[in-house]
Amino acid sequence: MTDEQIAVPTPDGAYSISIGAGVLTHVGARVQALDAFSPRCAIVTPPRLRELYAPTVVDSLHAAGFAPHVVEIPEGEQFKTLETLRGIYDRLIDAQLDRCSILFALGGGVVGDVTGLAAATLLRGVPFVQLPTTLLAMVDASIGGKVAVDHPRGKNLIGAFKQPRAIFADTNTLATLPDEERRAGMAEVVKHAVIGDVELFELLETRNWKLEVGAWIGRAIQVKVDIVSRDPYEKGERAKLNLGHTFGHALEKLSNYELRHGDAVAIGLVCAARLAARLAMCDAALAARIENLVRAIGLPTRVPREMAAVNILDAMQTDKKRTDDRLRFVLPRALGDVAIVDDVTRGEIIATIEETRE
Ligand SMILES: NC(=O)c1ccc[n+]([C@@H]2O[C@H](COP(=O)([O-])OP(=O)(O)OC[C@H]3O[C@@H](n4cnc5c(N)ncnc54)[C@H](O)[C@@H]3O)[C@@H](O)[C@H]2O)c1
Repeated sequence: MTDEQIAVPTPDGAYSISIGAGVLTHVGARVQALDAFSPRCAIVTPPRLRELYAPTVVDSLHAAGFAPHVVEIPEGEQFKTLETLRGIYDRLIDAQLDRCSILFALGGGVVGDVTGLAAATLLRGVPFVQLPTTLLAMVDASIGGKVAVDHPRGKNLIGAFKQPRAIFADTNTLATLPDEERRAGMAEVVKHAVIGDVELFELLETRNWKLEVGAWIGRAIQVKVDIVSRDPYEKGERAKLNLGHTFGHALEKLSNYELRHGDAVAIGLVCAARLAARLAMCDAALAARIENLVRAIGLPTRVPREMAAVNILDAMQTDKKRTDDRLRFVLPRALGDVAIVDDVTRGEIIATIEETRE
């Protein structure tokens, strides 16, 4: 089969991302060739994806001599919790997995994050393979080794760095992805284009982004790969990937996670671009261009009416991405060029929120 391969260098070696239509049918053979793994392994997935895609993965693993257990977890961000993690541990311990048993995460970013944390901690670490089935997970969440669950006080507060041994992004799975989830993934694609790929941005502006995933998904993935391989432990440059996220996480939290991650990031991108223009880091035309693309994709561009600016600021303060008492923003200077800024005043943040309100 013809799949696109992207290598991701990591501190302990490298892993590969296979991208293409039908790559799930090759998981067993490809993984078997990587190392001497235990035949016993587990696929963690929610009920809907168990029905849709687990049979393909199970068949492929059986054909390669693996004996997979399927572990179901409930779907949705509200289940990205320590309780779900505990349920996974219970099932995996019952199934007598050992240290060479692979955990496969079949699903969106939630499944990848929670399964990755299980893989980082079970038996002090077992191998982990990502099988992302949402656009967001393919271009962002599955790559780079950050895994986590949420805490009532904030998202992703309990986590680890756990590199996958491989990622298989089967673009066929996007056929069943609800439109709103696809749009949400597009927020991260736009983010990547703004951070590091002008041509990708132009492609999205001019082409039908809906029909031509194969034409650009590799580019969107490459932006993240380049950054995480230079900064695997988020000591510096990786913070660029938080473009739109300081605002976005705060909006998500204030909505009690009813606002989708990608939708919150979309609004966050618009806020970040406007804040950059307000600070004269970029011209207003760039902010307008970013906003137009976000809107053309059908993503929200406005801060919800009911969210007071002071509450958004408070929610930002509890986000773990702040440094000391200063809020940190990633702001665009131009397409493909973003800067990390931590001396923005409360007044400038509030003014940006107010001018971006619905
Ligand atoms: N680890 C990281 O670096 C990183 C980066 C970005 C985001 N994230 C995390 O990712 C999560 C969001 O991920 P998401 O947007 O993939 O959401 P998600 O995992 O909740 O998936 C969205 C919904 O789509 C369903 N679904 C998934 N694939 C499908 C398919 N092919 N067909 C039909 N339905 C399908 C899921 O069951 C779910 O209901 C957040 O928790 C966020 O914090 C992590």
